[in-house]
Amino acid sequence: MSIPFLPSDQANGAALCRRAAAVIPGAIPGHQSPALNVPGHFPYFAKRGSGACYWDADDRRFIDFMGGYGPLVLGTAHPEVDAAYTDALKNGNCFNHPTEWTVRLAEALVERVDFADWAFFGKNGADMTYWAIRVAREHTHRPYILKVTGAYHGTEPWCSDTLAGVLSEDKAHILEIPWNDHAALEQTIQAKGDRIAGLVTTPFHHPSYGDMELPEADFLAALRRHCDAVGAVWILDDVRGGFRHDIGGSHRYFSFTPDISCYSKAIANGYALSAAVGREALRPAASRVFATGSFWNNPAPHAAALKTMEVLERDTCIPGMLQRGSEWIDAFLALGKKHGIELKASGTPTLPYIRIAEDPGFFKQQSFCSAAIRQGVFLHPHHNWFIGAAHDDALLEESLAAIDRALGGCSV
Ligand SMILES: Cc1ncc(COP(=O)(O)O)c(C=O)c1O
Repeated sequence: MSIPFLPSDQANGAALCRRAAAVIPGAIPGHQSPALNVPGHFPYFAKRGSGACYWDADDRRFIDFMGGYGPLVLGTAHPEVDAAYTDALKNGNCFNHPTEWTVRLAEALVERVDFADWAFFGKNGADMTYWAIRVAREHTHRPYILKVTGAYHGTEPWCSDTLAGVLSEDKAHILEIPWNDHAALEQTIQAKGDRIAGLVTTPFHHPSYGDMELPEADFLAALRRHCDAVGAVWILDDVRGGFRHDIGGSHRYFSFTPDISCYSKAIANGYALSAAVGREALRPAASRVFATGSFWNNPAPHAAALKTMEVLERDTCIPGMLQRGSEWIDAFLALGKKHGIELKASGTPTLPYIRIAEDPGFFKQQSFCSAAIRQGVFLHPHHNWFIGAAHDDALLEESLAAIDRALGGCSV
């Protein structure tokens, strides 16, 4: 099969890409595919990283605003988290049983997340969102799951945006409403409320190829009210936003309370781990829904998660990230004004997205992000960005100087 983005040049990344194409379907599959950036302009392979910077296979350095698509809240190769991980590894990382690390991590989450009475662990975000909808169905003995149109919850068929290998039956009991749409919410609840097991939302709407949308007045309150009225379980998918707004969960930043929250990405600063936490009333259903994996109880990622939380709290990282993120967004928008380019910012200070306004096909945005890449700043053209604890003042300043040059040099 021919791969449209396959490069022909002699650079290391390009050569790796051609080798990958021979032995990996799609060469670089999934969300890391160059086809989702701007092929030919963005790096193909990473080589090493430190803090909020990484180097590609051709030793080009980038200030990274994607952080592995979210996990690297403390930056890559964080010495304390990596030490916690490798210390735990010394005793082995795979057993016939869980270890004390698992219990300690569950205790730590239950302590921090205000509504949580229990915790459950997996590896990926999709493990938890899929498990959580099964818990909702088991708890209510109802079939329907209500989700927001365009929201991403993983690649399981129930919520997959692509159709390859997915049957219409896989989505037969999935209902959708647009974010912030009170009328659609009420209509759906009226029509199917007594058959809805659960509602799945992110804390704010963060679609790809679109602006982030914060909750409008009363939308979250309406979701809570309707779930309570019909007895549906509200599942918060905090996989992307978790540990970047409030150590106790993004619901605290937005002032609402779900029934289950799913975390992954930043929870262990890059080590493979996901978690769900929930209310007491859901414990019986959570105990009955069988889900597991060969690696789900490995202790080293659990030790890394405990250390990540400890560092986030000890160094008051999250308030600092929010503050610096907000100043960076303001400075970025000011650069747009300086160059006479109208920019639109959306999202939160730690999950921002800034794009060229009046650019429906994202072509200007692609041109700008490609220019940023040439200046050593990794900004995704169609996906929200991430600002973490490793983006210190000096690095943010450096990134703004590069963005200034990119805005001056791109064709928008
Ligand atoms: C909001 C949200 N939910 C779920 C997932 C799925 O997580 P994973 O890729 O670890 O399965 C993602 C991943 O990007 C996500 O952003």
